[in-house]
Amino acid sequence: MPLPDQQLAGMLSARDAIEGRLEQLLASPTGVPPNLSAALRHALLAPSKRIRPLLVYHVVEPQDAQIAGALDLGCAVEMVHTASLILDDLPCMDDAVMRRQRPTTHMAFGQATAILAAIALLSQAFGILAALAGVDDATKTRLAAELSAAVGWTGLVAGQELDVNERASIVAVDGIERLNWLKTGVLFVAAARMGAMLRGLPDEEVEAVGLFASHLGLAFQTADDLLDSNATADEAGKDVGKDGNKTTLVTLFGEQAALLSYREHLDKAEAALLQTRVNAPPLMAMIARLFERRETPTP
Ligand code: IPE
Ligand code: IPE
Ligand code: MG
Ligand code: MG
Ligand code: MG
Repeated sequence: MPLPDQQLAGMLSARDAIEGRLEQLLASPTGVPPNLSAALRHALLAPSKRIRPLLVYHVVEPQDAQIAGALDLGCAVEMVHTASLILDDLPCMDDAVMRRQRPTTHMAFGQATAILAAIALLSQAFGILAALAGVDDATKTRLAAELSAAVGWTGLVAGQELDVNERASIVAVDGIERLNWLKTGVLFVAAARMGAMLRGLPDEEVEAVGLFASHLGLAFQTADDLLDSNATADEAGKDVGKDGNKTTLVTLFGEQAALLSYREHLDKAEAALLQTRVNAPPLMAMIARLFERRETPTP
C-alpha cells in the first residue's frame, strides 16, 4: 500500500537528519587512526534502514529545541546496533561476508580492526549519552542505565551467547521467542523507552511505548529469519541462508507459521501503539515500509 506523500516526506527527512548526524559524529574527532576511522565509516555509514534511531525520533516527536538531542540519542543506539552487527558477522559468530550491501567489516579491514571498531562504537554510544545537551543529569543516568541493561550480559550480549552456543537446546516456541527478545527485542524496547524518557513522558507511558516496541522487535526478528530463508543476498544486502541449521520459527514450523507469528506480533504492536500518547502515523508508516519490504523484497 503506497504511503501518503506527507508521511513519506516526514520519514525521509528524519532519516536524512539521522544520516547527517552520524556523518558529523564520525567526522569530528581527531587522533583516530586512519584505518580505524575508515572501518568505522565503512560499518556505520553503510546503507541501513536506521529503524532504531527512527524509532527514537518518532517517539520523541521533537520540537525544534529537542531535535539535536533526539538525533544524538538515536545515533547512540545506532552505534550500539552497528557494533552488534560487526561482532555478529565475525567468523566465530555467523561468519558472514556481506553486510549492508558491503563486505563485512572484518572482510574489509581484518578481524582485529573490526573488533576494535565495535568496541569503539559501543564506548562512543555512552559518551554521546553523557554529552546530551540540555538534558538533566538524572535523565542522562536513566538513559545510560537503560542502554547498558539492553546491551549487557542480560540483554543483547546474552542473546548472542545463546544464539551462538545454546541454539541446539532451544526446541520450542518459548525458547525461540526468548532468544529473539534478547538478541533483537531488547534494543528496540530500549530505543523506544529512551525516546519516551528523553521526552519526559511519565513512567506508565514509558512502559506502554516499550510494549509496542517489544512486539515490533519480535515481529522484526522473525521477519528477518524469513528473509534469511527466502531472499537472495543481493535483496537482503547481507548474507542469507545462515540460519538453515539453527532453530528459528522458520526452521521449526515453516515459513507460513513464521509469517503468521510475525503478523500477530505486528498487529499487537500496532494496537499497543494506539494506546500510547505518541503520534502513531509516522511509526505506522515506518512499519508499513519496513514489512512491505520484508514480504516483497525490493532494492
Ligand atoms: C539486522 O538489523 C539485525 C537484526 C536484528 C535482524 P537491521 O535489519 O535493522 O539492519 P540494518 O541496520 O538495516 O542494516
Ligand atoms: C540479529 O541476528 C541479532 C544481532 C545482530 C544482535 P542475525 O544474525 O539474524 O542478524 P543478521 O541476519 O545477521 O542481520
Ligand atoms: Mg546472528
Ligand atoms: Mg547474523
Ligand atoms: Mg538474520
